[in-house]
Amino acid sequence: MSDRIRLDFSNMMSPRLGGRGIAPEALVAFGDRFAEVHEDVRRRRTSGELGFFDLPYADESVRQIQEFAEGPGQAFDTVVVLGIGGSALGTSALRDALLPPAWNELDDERRQFYPRLYVLDNIDPTTIGPFLDRIDPRRTLFNVVSKSGSTAETMAQFLIVRERLSQVLEGDAWRGHLVFTTDPEAGPLRKLAREERIAALDIPPNVGGRFSVLSGVGLLPAALVGIDVRALLDGARAMDERCQSAELDSNPAALFAALQYLADTGAGAPIHVMMAYSDRLYPVADWFRQLWAESLGKRLDRQGEVVHRGPTPVKALGVTDQHSQVQLYVEGPFDKTVTFLAVTEHGQDIEIPRIYGQLDAVGYLGGRTLGELLDAERRATAAALAHHQRMNMTLELPRVDAHALGQLFMLLQIATVYAGGFYDVDPLDQPGVELGKVLTYGLMGRRGYEPPELAEPDPRWVND
Ligand code: PA5
Repeated sequence: MSDRIRLDFSNMMSPRLGGRGIAPEALVAFGDRFAEVHEDVRRRRTSGELGFFDLPYADESVRQIQEFAEGPGQAFDTVVVLGIGGSALGTSALRDALLPPAWNELDDERRQFYPRLYVLDNIDPTTIGPFLDRIDPRRTLFNVVSKSGSTAETMAQFLIVRERLSQVLEGDAWRGHLVFTTDPEAGPLRKLAREERIAALDIPPNVGGRFSVLSGVGLLPAALVGIDVRALLDGARAMDERCQSAELDSNPAALFAALQYLADTGAGAPIHVMMAYSDRLYPVADWFRQLWAESLGKRLDRQGEVVHRGPTPVKALGVTDQHSQVQLYVEGPFDKTVTFLAVTEHGQDIEIPRIYGQLDAVGYLGGRTLGELLDAERRATAAALAHHQRMNMTLELPRVDAHALGQLFMLLQIATVYAGGFYDVDPLDQPGVELGKVLTYGLMGRRGYEPPELAEPDPRWVND
């Protein structure tokens, strides 16, 4: 079986969908537009703007990561990542895809003495408080991950952890329980690393949060828990090679981006659902949701004109959401595409016992497997969507392993950059989140940020 991820897009096309969907001529004609975008991306890559392309080739930084993971990193039985957004989602996706399920509940032996791995992400005190009370900080390494080194949520988590560490550890032993992953030069976290002599890994300056999963951001936690980071990067490189092609029909990232773009702008489908038929890949859909939304949802185009563009990504889980969302996808507005994440070899399967054979409505399941049922339901849902003229496509992984995941991360990151080209927006910035940050600073009393009126609106509560 091939190691390659495959994309089946037949159900996106109008001949399959009774005239709805994307006309084959429109896709062919779009090849010229793609050739321009491909060239622009190639130029931006060469000029060093798109640093995520270089990550699979960064052998020296992988060596440093492995050195830390196999050296000082061995002293802990728990690793906690403090980070949010692009500094957290990729690590959760890696953990849930590549480690056995419920990893953190397994005993030491079943974890082969690798540490537990938690990713805090949110700052709800009712989660963080009990979590910190439950772990033993003396046996824990805290990886503070922030490109800017100043994100309020991550810094708040860090301050809490920092104090707890100095409360339970003698002298300056707390230092050894921290490792920062941040910009090599800029930002408060880098300054603290220098002043406090805390170990720190670099996020290259030209790699932004949501494109950083294959940097130290994702690779350090992955290496600490024994994930094969070399295989992950091999997969990413293999996908990068496939995406060198300027031909739309042989470049999987280009096809994925072009189909989504044409579905949105030419076929009325601005909602892009990613539906994983694998519990292990569901967090990948979560990671992709952030990547697609934050990269493409923009007020201005690249010429500075106000355009308010961007598709809305949605994550879904098969088969669970067949009993929740699929009714809407099949019969609601024609405003969605569905991308299925499929897995050819599940790696483990369970046979369904042959009992109650006399009951037709149950007996047919006997002797089949849960994997077969999962696959049949995915294929059936794709066919039902197509029957109802709903665009859908399938990204098929040969199996859920590090090599396939490396391919998938790279495919979706490259597709996002191409889509930025098609929508003519900058996929690397996120100016829309700034105002909320500044208002939060004002409300929290940060020096230089007065509490602005805007942040204290006159509320109108119902039944007040
Ligand atoms: O993708 C992005 O740039 C964001 O989602 C960031 O990852 C997120 O805001 C966290 O930022 P930082 O890594 O600077 O703490």
